[in-house]
Amino acid sequence: MSSGYHIPILGSAVRDLLITNPDGVYYDGTLGGGGHADIILHKLSADAIYIGVDRDKEALDYSRKHLKKYANVVYYHGVFNDFSGALKSAKVDTIDGLLLDLGLSSHQIDRDERGFTFSTDAELDMRMNREDSFTAADILNKYNLDDLIRIFRKYGEEKYSQRIARRIVKLREDRVLIHSSDLTGVIDSCTPQYKRIKTYARIFQALRIEVNEELKILEKTLKESLGFLSKGGRIAVISYHSLEDRIVKEFFKMQENPCTCPHELPYCICGEKPGIKRIKPFLIRPDEEEIKKNSRARSAKLRVGEKI
Ligand SMILES: C[S@@+](CC[C@H](N)C(=O)[O-])C[C@H]1O[C@@H](n2cnc3c(N)ncnc32)[C@H](O)[C@@H]1O
Repeated sequence: MSSGYHIPILGSAVRDLLITNPDGVYYDGTLGGGGHADIILHKLSADAIYIGVDRDKEALDYSRKHLKKYANVVYYHGVFNDFSGALKSAKVDTIDGLLLDLGLSSHQIDRDERGFTFSTDAELDMRMNREDSFTAADILNKYNLDDLIRIFRKYGEEKYSQRIARRIVKLREDRVLIHSSDLTGVIDSCTPQYKRIKTYARIFQALRIEVNEELKILEKTLKESLGFLSKGGRIAVISYHSLEDRIVKEFFKMQENPCTCPHELPYCICGEKPGIKRIKPFLIRPDEEEIKKNSRARSAKLRVGEKI
């Protein structure tokens, strides 16, 4: 069931909790290497429709080959909140299940030229969609000091944000910052050695989130998904860091209890109705065995909700 491109995480839990109708329409917003798709499609009937979306063309090309035994997959190149475009290309109006397996595939991380990692020296690219024009290097060279500090704090939760941002602004007076070694060099020059690896990870994460507008798109997608999900249909989201998970958790909680009335009121007057029922267990994590086989599973958190 797995592929060399990426090992799907929490595959059987996703399959068991997402499928409510084996003939239904399923929307995989993060098709990647098609690992989850394969596990889910295996349980769906030939009448089901599986819409596989990815903003990375390489992922779609790989999945087309990986999933070629299934005739009921519609591939769509785009951002996962483009429900209208993807549903139109599949000629459907609603979906019975939405899967978001957030972040990057192993393939994207492992390809040096994509510039996602600090462990090799490569150009600071970090675009999930290589047709976009805005890269991580553009942020480092063009953002003003306040904006650099803001993204390092907000998306990296990095204590040394101000120091690192100031050093970047100073350094770029003399030269353009292009490679990951330019950035790790800046971090080395203004953080204690024992903190460095974690600081690299936090600053690289901040840049990646900003380049791809990951959190903004996630919030938008969750809100908009309810307009396309059929009653009883489910949303399954796997997140890999606390910033993503917070958005998912808050969305489900808010949708389950949207009432804004003061607690002292004996009955509701705001009229807000729940849109989602959370599916138990509210939080699913990979077990030790899965983590032993795939260390990238370590930080995964799966949450599932059902449209009321
Ligand atoms: C963790 S991988 C998914 C792996 C997949 N579930 C599998 O089993 O092979 C995440 C994928 O989602 C894509 N992606 C991330 N954010 C996206 C977005 N906002 N819109 C569309 N695709 C996105 C990435 O390009 C990447 O291929």
